[in-house]
Amino acid sequence: MTAAIEVRDLVVERGKRRVLNSISTTVPRGSVTGLLGPSGSGKTTLMRAIVGVQIVRSGSVLVLGQPAGAAALRRKVGYLTQAPSVYDDLTVRENARYFAALYGYGATAADAAIRDVGLADAAGQLVASLSGGQRSRASLACALLGEPELLILDEPTVGQDPVLRAELWDRFHALAAAGTTLLVSSHVMDEAGRCDRLILIREGAIIADDSPADVRAAAGTTDLEEAFLRLIQEREEAVATPGDRAGSTAVANERQTP
Ligand SMILES: Nc1ncnc2c1ncn2[C@@H]1O[C@H](COP(=O)(O)OP(=O)(O)OP(=O)(O)O)[C@@H](O)[C@H]1O
Ligand SMILES: [Mg+2]
Repeated sequence: MTAAIEVRDLVVERGKRRVLNSISTTVPRGSVTGLLGPSGSGKTTLMRAIVGVQIVRSGSVLVLGQPAGAAALRRKVGYLTQAPSVYDDLTVRENARYFAALYGYGATAADAAIRDVGLADAAGQLVASLSGGQRSRASLACALLGEPELLILDEPTVGQDPVLRAELWDRFHALAAAGTTLLVSSHVMDEAGRCDRLILIREGAIIADDSPADVRAAAGTTDLEEAFLRLIQEREEAVATPGDRAGSTAVANERQTP
């Protein structure tokens, strides 16, 4: 079976800056892969390229065996954007029922999705009156509703308390155990240990792409935050030594951004 996501030599420029610098990675099916890196490192840009809404300079992105953004992927890929994407003037329940209806599900599925993200008590509340963390969970409930094969979740646990974060991660793993593939971004390193695999990204380049155990072993420390710092340092030392790093030849793969 093909991998859920196959990224090859992906180059993305935003504004005049090269934001992803020839990235290659493979995300296996039925697992939780963490996309970790500091603010501005390119996490959202990579997710946008995987969903197919990002113009890319060169390289390729295959999703469930199809080019990213292909019409056949519309029902198979769920995307939680970093900014909440629910309607302010509807209640949580109305939002969930609206999205459920779009996917062909009824009120029961909508109510279950609200419960799954711990929002049952706020179901009747207008989204406009929710806290930031609650709003983000309302968006997550709607993203989960379509039961996609691949879930791209951009910082789904930001602003959540530790108990809720743990519950959400349990939910992600339950979905993966049932066959869903999840790519979850975070810039909080303590979440890295919860992933089956990690992609560590910095300044548009991948500096580690492995299981948490292997990342720890490669860096020689059990602390993932420390491991990340050591890998960055090693990389900077390697780049500082002379050597020609040839650029890849461009393969046109341009898309329109909506
Ligand atoms: N619309 C845009 N136009 C120009 N540059 C952009 C645009 N969006 C993002 N960038 C730049 O692209 C780079 C990567 O941004 P991206 O949003 O992918 O980072 P990120 O890792 O998701 O950060 P964060 O953790 O803050 O969400 C940053 O330097 C950012 O300033
Ligand atoms: Mg981002």
